[in-house]
Amino acid sequence: MSTEIYYFTGTGNSLAVARDLAVKLNGTLVPVADVVDREEIRTDAEVIGVVFPIYDFKPPKIIGQFVRKLEGLGSKYIFAVCTYGIAPGNALQVFGKDLESCGGRLAGGFAVRMPHNGIGAAAFSAGHHEQMYSGWKRQRDAISEYVQARKEGTIETKHLSPRFILSGSFLNAIPILLRLGVQVVGKGWDSMALAADEHCNGCGICEKVCPVDNIAIVDRKPVWSDHCQVCFACLHWCPKEAVQAGPITVGMTRYHHPRVTLADMTRGGANISKANSGDYLQEQPAGSASQ
Ligand SMILES: Cc1cc2nc3c(=O)[nH]c(=O)nc-3n(C[C@H](O)[C@H](O)[C@H](O)COP(=O)(O)O)c2cc1C
Ligand code: SF4
Ligand code: SF4
Repeated sequence: MSTEIYYFTGTGNSLAVARDLAVKLNGTLVPVADVVDREEIRTDAEVIGVVFPIYDFKPPKIIGQFVRKLEGLGSKYIFAVCTYGIAPGNALQVFGKDLESCGGRLAGGFAVRMPHNGIGAAAFSAGHHEQMYSGWKRQRDAISEYVQARKEGTIETKHLSPRFILSGSFLNAIPILLRLGVQVVGKGWDSMALAADEHCNGCGICEKVCPVDNIAIVDRKPVWSDHCQVCFACLHWCPKEAVQAGPITVGMTRYHHPRVTLADMTRGGANISKANSGDYLQEQPAGSASQ
């Protein structure tokens, strides 16, 4: 029985999760961005997994576009995993409803906490990141067993809890939230538009990592087009930290999952080595992977 794991990622959290599940379930990895432009998406796989990050408590737009093109879902076993930084809200239910309207049924939906790659990143330290990677290791086994047993009925939802709001993590994020407020009130949401600052050296990495070809290098400078998914890949993978979403991201720590390399981001899912999967916490200290 064949399994396909479709994924979308900006900074590798969802790719790391998808890759581990592909190993556990003996499945094939497929980047959503590689198939989403087809007229329709059909597969012989009997088991389909979809892994994606959460943006503003919802799945990325590209995931909705992908689901709407899926055909022949009737008898397939479908599960989804979202990776999130603080709270995924009802994103998996939203995904399940989209799927239902296309003739499919979500057998399981799981939310995996990972380092935040948006403005909320300021809430968390490297210690928090280690806890999240360890948490995934436990969840990975539980999700794999659930899928292998073809279970049904679990659709996880998690909302911003009063406990989190009162926690040290949230307090850590208050300065950046205030700066965000000042930026947006003073200059509007357009001030969050992605742009390269004077540190850009024209290397072209942002163009290569953009999963939806939204960046072109013109005269050795990146130019952003109009179909951005706000995955923040360009911002985090730029080696000069030159990509900004306004003043708010100047000096913000850049992040990518420690087991995901620049090559993984640019060469497509079919070629992604499975060597970096498995018990990585024992095999390789987090943060030691090279770009
Ligand atoms: C623009 C943007 C919006 C985000 N919104 C949320 C959100 O609403 N809730 C949340 O928990 N995490 C949010 N995040 C964090 C990501 O969902 C999380 O870090 C995810 O694991 C990133 O996955 P990736 O590394 O595969 O791109 C957001 C990130 C970005 C860039
Ligand atoms: S990755 Fe950074 S330095 Fe390279 S072209 Fe893009 S913005 Fe410029
Ligand atoms: S332009 Fe940047 S943020 Fe937008 S989709 Fe491409 S890599 Fe992601």
